[in-house]
Amino acid sequence: MATGSMAMIVAATSQNGIGCKGGLPWRLPREMRYFADATAGSAVVMGRKTWEGIPLKFRPLKGRVNVVVSRSSTVDGVCDRRRARPV
Ligand SMILES: NC(=O)c1ccc[n+]([C@@H]2O[C@H](COP(=O)([O-])OP(=O)(O)OC[C@H]3O[C@@H](n4cnc5c(N)ncnc54)[C@H](OP(=O)(O)O)[C@@H]3O)[C@@H](O)[C@H]2O)c1
Repeated sequence: MATGSMAMIVAATSQNGIGCKGGLPWRLPREMRYFADATAGSAVVMGRKTWEGIPLKFRPLKGRVNVVVSRSSTVDGVCDRRRARPV
C-alpha cells in the first residue's frame, strides 16, 4: 500500500456476514494469508472487539502497527495507550 493511503479490507459471506461469536465465521488459511500479505508493513486499525477476538498467540498482528479503538483506557493486552483528540 502506498505511503499515506488508507484502505478498508473486509471479508464477507454472500449475506454480508463478517463475524460470529466474536470471531470470524470461517477458517480459511488462504484468506488469512491474503490479509497478512495485504496489510504487511502497514498500520491496521480495528475495534476493541475485533482485537479481543484475535487469539492471544496471534496478537499483536506481526509486522504491522496494531491500532485498537476503544472508549476505554483499559483494553486488555494494549501496551501504549493514547487518547485520541476529537475531530
Ligand atoms: N470478516 C472481516 O473482514 C472482519 C474484519 C474485522 C472484524 N471482523 C469480525 O467482526 C466482529 C467484531 O466487530 P464489531 O463491530 O462487533 O466490533 P468492533 O468494531 O471490533 O469493536 C467495537 C468496539 O470498538 C470501539 N469503538 C468503535 N467505534 C469507536 C469510536 N468511534 N471511538 C472509540 N471506540 C470505538 C468500542 O470499544 P469499547 O466498547 O471498548 O469502547 C466498540 O465497542 C468480530 O466477530 C470479528 O471477528 C470481521
